[in-house]
Amino acid sequence: MISEKLQQARDYEREKEAAILPENRPVYHFTPLTGWMNDPNGFSWYQDRYHLFYQYFPYTTEWGPMHWGHAVSEDLLKWDFLPAALAPDQPYDVEGCWSGSAVEIPDGETGSRQLLIYTGREPFFNEERREIRQVQCLAAGDGRDYSKWDNNPVITSADLPEGASIYDFRDPKVWRDEEEACYYMAVGSRAADGHGQVLLYRSRNGFQWDYLKVLDASRGKIGSMWECPDFFELEGSAFLLLSPQDMVQEGEFQNRHGNVYIKGIYDKEKHDFIRQEVHALDFGYDFYAAQTMQAPDGRRILIAWMQAWENARTREYVNGWAGMMTVPRELSVKDGYLIQTPVRELLQRRRNPVILRRVPVSGRIRLEGVQGRCLDMTVSVSPGWKSDYDSFEIRFAEGEIKGQYYAVILRYDKKEGLITLDRSVSGYRDDALPVRRLKVDSTGQVKFRLLLDRYSAEIFVNDGRYTLTSVLETDQAAEGISFISEGDAEISVEKYEIAHDGSAKREAVC
Ligand code: FRU
Repeated sequence: MISEKLQQARDYEREKEAAILPENRPVYHFTPLTGWMNDPNGFSWYQDRYHLFYQYFPYTTEWGPMHWGHAVSEDLLKWDFLPAALAPDQPYDVEGCWSGSAVEIPDGETGSRQLLIYTGREPFFNEERREIRQVQCLAAGDGRDYSKWDNNPVITSADLPEGASIYDFRDPKVWRDEEEACYYMAVGSRAADGHGQVLLYRSRNGFQWDYLKVLDASRGKIGSMWECPDFFELEGSAFLLLSPQDMVQEGEFQNRHGNVYIKGIYDKEKHDFIRQEVHALDFGYDFYAAQTMQAPDGRRILIAWMQAWENARTREYVNGWAGMMTVPRELSVKDGYLIQTPVRELLQRRRNPVILRRVPVSGRIRLEGVQGRCLDMTVSVSPGWKSDYDSFEIRFAEGEIKGQYYAVILRYDKKEGLITLDRSVSGYRDDALPVRRLKVDSTGQVKFRLLLDRYSAEIFVNDGRYTLTSVLETDQAAEGISFISEGDAEISVEKYEIAHDGSAKREAVC
């Protein structure tokens, strides 16, 4: 049964969809069908397709009572919208269906069903005072339509460890453990000390859940509330992904709402996670609430909201949508670090190569055929054959518009081993910290892969060892790219345009 509220959202989004012209959306980054989007939810594989749900308020381009939007894809890049999956239509989620995940469960009648696990925001009265608590809820469906479970909520404040906040308890990430034939859930929580922690629950059937333990906790060090946890093992290590609120801006952590990963060792029998290292997951301005899934071919794939809460309120939305996702990224591990690379499916979308080898750069140059705002470009920088360079810059989204110079400046200071990303002259006006800084541990060659789309830049440094992700508000006419070297450098450039979505109708490149 589809509730009135969900039907209303579905009717509304269908009516509005056509009003957003493809030329007013990014070419290969996911945007909501209409209205507002934040976190990716329920990123999963079900019935031969990838599913992506998202925090969604269809009615305006601002955050509101959360619904779940829904889209499916065969290649992780071309997404087809399905009708909104969830609306806040029950007493236990009337204040919003907040973030969560999806998992496939066996079902006697139909073979299997897709289970959505999400946070409901439930108002209640405490001695006549209206308060909110967060509870974990389920909806099961066929990949298109979902029914909320009659016994919702399945985890409430009664299932919290002592002292944990009933208000900050959200974003369940569920996975199946095949060996044990059971499901696990990691949920963000706020401990009695006011700081974040992740709680672990277990279920045999996906419907009844038992509390196990605290998987890890901030203890005052890694921000306050921990949002959007994810937990997986990869190449012999365990990784706990978190989006902590209110981080102190120091070292690797330069965003107030950052996205970090904790690498550790997981003892599966005792459910003990032994923390080893904490790192930023991304070094740019806009990256939050990352969620991963395991593809049928075994790849661990990540997608994140390409936005930061501190920036989200200041943007002006003119195109009928607000919020983009990053390109899905394949994860691997090298030297103990999490490595991110754009999914290999993107290679199929590349067109019109411009390949230049061993180009000397001393001072500033532009290269023929190397410009644009929608491209996949790799630039390898090495010392020149005569002498070395001190610093190297790539300026993109560059141009003069109405007498004003615009550019995004990506700079590598070789002596300092420092990469900076500066969008202070890009037309973006609201950054508290105008430059993002990143200490690199490579001294020799440096390699940048830039994925530009109309409203964003994703930069992969040294084959994905570091990433810097940012939205751009720069006028589309600023499409120049310059290379600037202090000293003698030599570069190799591989640049491709990205085709729209591969469909015959929109074969044109951007
Ligand atoms: C993270 C977050 C989640 C919450 C959702 C609400 O961006 O705050 O913790 O579930 O957004 O939209």
